[in-house]
Amino acid sequence: MYFKILRTTIMVLVSFILTSTSFAFKPKKEEWRPADTANFVSKFYKENEGCFKCHGEKYYEYINEAQGTTIRHNMYVERFVDRDLFYKSNHKSFKCTDCHSEEYKKFPHAGELRMESMYGCLDCHGNDDKYAKYHFEEIDAEYQQSTHFKMEKEGFTCWKCHNPHTYQISIRNTENLTKTIAYDNAICLNCHSDFDRYQLLSDKKEINLIKKHEWLPNQAAHFQSVRCIECHSKANDSILVNHLLMPKDSAVRKCNECHSQNSILMASLYKFKSKERRKDGFFNGVILNESYVIGANRNEYLNSFSLLILFGVIGVICVHVFFRIIKVNQKEDES
Ligand code: HEC
Ligand code: HEC
Ligand code: HEC
Ligand code: HEC
Ligand code: HEC
Ligand code: HEC
Ligand code: HEC
Repeated sequence: MYFKILRTTIMVLVSFILTSTSFAFKPKKEEWRPADTANFVSKFYKENEGCFKCHGEKYYEYINEAQGTTIRHNMYVERFVDRDLFYKSNHKSFKCTDCHSEEYKKFPHAGELRMESMYGCLDCHGNDDKYAKYHFEEIDAEYQQSTHFKMEKEGFTCWKCHNPHTYQISIRNTENLTKTIAYDNAICLNCHSDFDRYQLLSDKKEINLIKKHEWLPNQAAHFQSVRCIECHSKANDSILVNHLLMPKDSAVRKCNECHSQNSILMASLYKFKSKERRKDGFFNGVILNESYVIGANRNEYLNSFSLLILFGVIGVICVHVFFRIIKVNQKEDES
């Protein structure tokens, strides 16, 4: 009787602990929902239209007051800001003049505005508990050691990879790794396959990326399954996205750095998802859905199973040899 009561109390307790911890571990909604599923309406929509009416269109108009005529011009592509992408970006809740001077409300814009200094990421995100999980300070430290940092004087900043009007977190809440890989690679290709942009920062001659990576078999397939930073950055355990880009001579070239059980991809591309279930090779295959790295996916049960078979076979051989020896001895005794 007492035993029964004790047993049910323990069962209730255990199930309570289990359910409460599973609630505690449930990720917050906004951490998992990709930003673009939310139907976001900015409270600055109207005000921003004051800028978008020119910067969000293929052409802009202004009135020549002396002649009373309306003049149309094409908007320079480099000055174009995509409305839809802006309202899906991390900074969608901003108004343009949160980052840009109020003076931009006048047109033609004053010349000295070009010299305006812009906020850096750390100005707003540095030492802020709200963004602690992103480790901005560490990212900044890594960036300062990266190969691009030497171009700081030429104007290289975090904004060059994180487009102020379109950047959206991806790998952190990705449900489609292929899409994230394409998104992250496009960040690099923005300059590395667009010489117009590249030459704003460097006097180097144009580099043919495809030729430079010819040693990689199925290059197209590889570039769809791994990001540039997998090979070009140094792994860091505490941040999700490595920011220490190395000089080209330190890039990963050996196949088995990825195609092996302790693949470097587990510490970079698959970091977020692999942490929880790294132990179980089969699950890797499932959660990584499209990307199944040959060699990186091995199963623990299969490992133990094959060991079992190995010992089994050795055992059978031993028994067999033992009886053979006995038999031979018996025969020798008989003759
Ligand atoms: C009547 C059209 C028009 C409106 C309205 C307008 N702009 Fe512009 N803007 C331009 C054109 C054309 C350029 C490129 C020529 C120049 O730099 O003056 C430009 C350039 C810029 C630049 C780049 C300056 C540089 O460094 O070269 C910024 C930043 C900018 N605008 C921000 C804004 C903001 C913010 C608003 C809204 C508050 C705004 N603009 C409203 C037409 C407009
Ligand atoms: C979170 C801050 C931020 C917000 C919000 C923002 N901008 Fe910018 N914008 C920047 C920064 C930083 C640059 C310089 C980018 C660089 O150095 O590459 C820039 C550059 C520009 C340029 C120059 C061309 C370019 O893309 O480099 C234009 C035009 C511009 N912004 C217009 C706008 C308009 C219009 C809005 C509102 C819809 C807006 N910006 C909102 C930070 C912001
Ligand atoms: C002018 C201040 C300011 C600057 C500069 C700025 N941010 Fe932000 N950022 C914010 C604010 C405020 C939010 C929150 C916006 C919201 O919740 O609507 C935000 C949101 C974000 C988010 C999403 C956070 C989340 O959990 O949803 C990321 C990631 C981010 N910023 C990265 C950057 C990076 C990288 C840079 C530099 C390239 C940068 N920010 C520059 C103020 C800024
Ligand atoms: C050479 C390009 C490059 C530069 C420069 C760069 N980043 Fe990034 N950063 C990336 C890429 C690629 C990602 C991955 C984006 C994704 O999938 O969410 C990223 C992601 C991030 C994230 C989100 C990480 C997370 O945990 O979700 C933050 C925050 C960030 N960068 C901050 C910075 C800051 C701060 C700087 C400057 C000190 C900087 N970045 C400079 C390429 C760059
Ligand atoms: C599988 C690993 C791998 C991937 C993925 C990869 N790279 Fe590379 N990359 C290398 C190696 C190794 C070199 C050095 C080649 C050499 O020594 O000529 C290199 C060279 C380079 C160089 C230097 C070229 C030069 O000679 O100056 C650039 C720039 C570059 N890669 C950019 C990229 C970009 C952008 C991407 C993503 C689209 C990318 N890489 C993807 C391994 C990789
Ligand atoms: C804003 C433009 C821009 C972006 C974005 C950019 N790069 Fe670069 N990168 C450059 C330029 C310019 C150089 C040449 C620097 C020089 O003169 O040596 C360079 C150099 C490199 C090199 C060669 C370093 C060496 O040893 O010569 C590698 C590797 C590289 N970038 C990788 C990347 C990767 C990976 C990304 C994306 C995460 C990226 N870059 C994003 C402009 C860019
Ligand atoms: C940065 C990590 C990385 C490196 C380095 C790397 N691979 Fe891969 N490789 C992958 C990934 C990820 C896949 C994609 C698996 C998938 O999606 O099916 C892949 C796929 C392949 C495939 C199958 C391609 C296909 O069409 O399905 C072959 C073959 C291959 N790699 C050979 C190599 C060889 C040979 C090397 C060395 C020269 C190499 N890989 C270097 C990560 C890497």
